[in-house]
Amino acid sequence: MDRPEIGDVFGEMIRDAYAVRTGIGPRPLAGGRVPRPVIEIIERDDGLINGAPADHYLTEPDEWQPHDHRALRMCRGHVLDVGVGAGRTAIELQRRGMAVTGLDTSAGAIEVARKRGLRDTVLTTVDGYARAPARYDTFLLLGNNLGLLEGPERAPVFLAALAAVANPGARIIAHGTDPYGTTDPVHTAYHRRNRERGRLGGQLRLRLRYRLLATEWFDYLVCSPGELAALLDGTRWRLESIDDVDRPYYLAVLKLTD
Ligand SMILES: C[S@@+](CC[C@H](N)C(=O)[O-])C[C@H]1O[C@@H](n2cnc3c(N)ncnc32)[C@H](O)[C@@H]1O
Repeated sequence: MDRPEIGDVFGEMIRDAYAVRTGIGPRPLAGGRVPRPVIEIIERDDGLINGAPADHYLTEPDEWQPHDHRALRMCRGHVLDVGVGAGRTAIELQRRGMAVTGLDTSAGAIEVARKRGLRDTVLTTVDGYARAPARYDTFLLLGNNLGLLEGPERAPVFLAALAAVANPGARIIAHGTDPYGTTDPVHTAYHRRNRERGRLGGQLRLRLRYRLLATEWFDYLVCSPGELAALLDGTRWRLESIDDVDRPYYLAVLKLTD
């Protein structure tokens, strides 16, 4: 086979990670006996391969980064958790009595989020949800989900889809990473190569792998706060604040204009 099968990589991975953490469902085993850690494999189009334990998608609040807690404290009204994953943050908001919907494109992620107790979920794209009758006051994009803006072409379309289901005064609270603090030549060369091709430096071209499955290649945006502000030009969102206490990570708050 010269191409891996395309499938719900995140879903397969998160089902296994959930089984390892809870003992519920078949666990990946080495030699049929020894539990195997579940690793998220990310390939970049320059050939770089990164692996990270998938268990952090299932962590409880006492295991989170401080910026996750600050993000949840800013949530108001009806919340749409965009790219909810295994429900980490949405379940905590629900526990606090807030009205929260979890949206994801991965059937496996939604299945695990529901098993963990998240009641209100939608399996769709942001674009597919833009005609829904529901209205939201807060859009939560955590776990680096600012990356879902993809790049200068996709960002206005994605932001318009959120605006279509927004109440007046709604906010987007998004976790991003400023990519430009690094001196690692692998990354600085990649940023340069991207710019030479007319892309933003941190406009990554990635695919995920898990066991036999792969995703299609997709763009994922890792941008500076300045680049984010420029992407908002011509959209209905303005940059309200940046919290970069945990640099290079930051929380961007975007507010819907009238
Ligand atoms: C990096 S994980 C973050 C999960 C969760 N927000 C957290 O912090 O634990 C990204 C999630 O976004 C979902 N996703 C990827 N592309 C998406 C899209 N275009 N629309 C909605 N969700 C998407 C993935 O299936 C995955 O569950």
